[in-house]
Amino acid sequence: MSGHKVEQASEEVVKNMKMIPFLHGLVRILPEGWLYPGTAPTFIDRIHSVKFRRDDVMVMTFPKCGTTWMQEIVWTMLHNPNLDHPKADQPTFQRCPDISFDMIFDTKPLGGLPMDSVAKMFEEIYPDRKMDNGVMADIIEATESPRVIKNHFPISLMPRDTLDTIKVVYVTRNPKDMTTSFWRFFSSVNVHEFRGDIDSFARLIMEDGMIYCPYWPHVKAAWEKRHHPNFHFVFYEDLISDSMQELRKINKFLGTQLSEEKLETIMRHTSFSSMKSRGEPLSDDVFKKENPKSVVFFRKGIVGDWKNNFSPELQKEMDQWIKKNLADTDLSLSWALAQ
Ligand code: A3P
Repeated sequence: MSGHKVEQASEEVVKNMKMIPFLHGLVRILPEGWLYPGTAPTFIDRIHSVKFRRDDVMVMTFPKCGTTWMQEIVWTMLHNPNLDHPKADQPTFQRCPDISFDMIFDTKPLGGLPMDSVAKMFEEIYPDRKMDNGVMADIIEATESPRVIKNHFPISLMPRDTLDTIKVVYVTRNPKDMTTSFWRFFSSVNVHEFRGDIDSFARLIMEDGMIYCPYWPHVKAAWEKRHHPNFHFVFYEDLISDSMQELRKINKFLGTQLSEEKLETIMRHTSFSSMKSRGEPLSDDVFKKENPKSVVFFRKGIVGDWKNNFSPELQKEMDQWIKKNLADTDLSLSWALAQ
């Protein structure tokens, strides 16, 4: 439906990924070469029949770039500026459903079906419907407006009129911290169990051999849209260094007209420590490893943690990759290198 072509990913790509294989293998969506579980094209087509609403806000990201943080900021601005909403304690995934989630269930530990918490949510809304054709689009259709929709798919896979209809907040993060966070995350969740060191993970990112890749076309396509009135581009690093300034911009973009005082309250409510204390956005056992120390979503929440994880060789390799990929764009090199 997006006009892309689909091809099966090679055996080598599947083997190199070093994690629990997806039941329907992997596909590349061309021309960009997005690498996704084999069920992705079906679910992307389904997105093209979702009826978006004028007041929808989509939080679009490449994974581990600050999605959960932005979901909470946007949801709180729209639904809970007084911090008294009865559903505010629900995990983020329930309040802000993920339109790109279905493909991830295609893994052996889940047997191709949604994890318990998602299945329960679906069954409560649609007691008579089967879950094997995906659930997220249906969950989104039943979500109360204004909806905050999470999405890891890039803008090019969305319906062409997306930005004529809804607002999109895009968050990106420097690739070295994204890689560190992503590696920790995929190593720590039962449904993926990445088995390798950060060097091998980073190489997969650089060679577009990890699901959700390629990273640069995702970010660059968003960067090109940054002046569109319905598109708002945010750097995770700016959100860390001057949260209030970024919240003011989001307030303006969403048209929420919240006072400085309210924004300050929201800033505190969405701080790393505050969000962490309220619990994980997804808490199913199948997701989390037995080890209670294995932190899944709220890990460190800082800029520059790559320095604690990268060898000098890996830093050199990734810096070269960054410089090569920034040659044709005006995205800031100092942001991307995060030195
Ligand atoms: P780290 O693993 O580097 O700590 P996503 O939500 O896209 O999966 O991104 C997860 C990353 O965002 C994690 O990074 C997580 O700690 C960080 N994060 C989540 N909430 C945050 C917050 N309120 N402030 C700062 N960082 C946050």
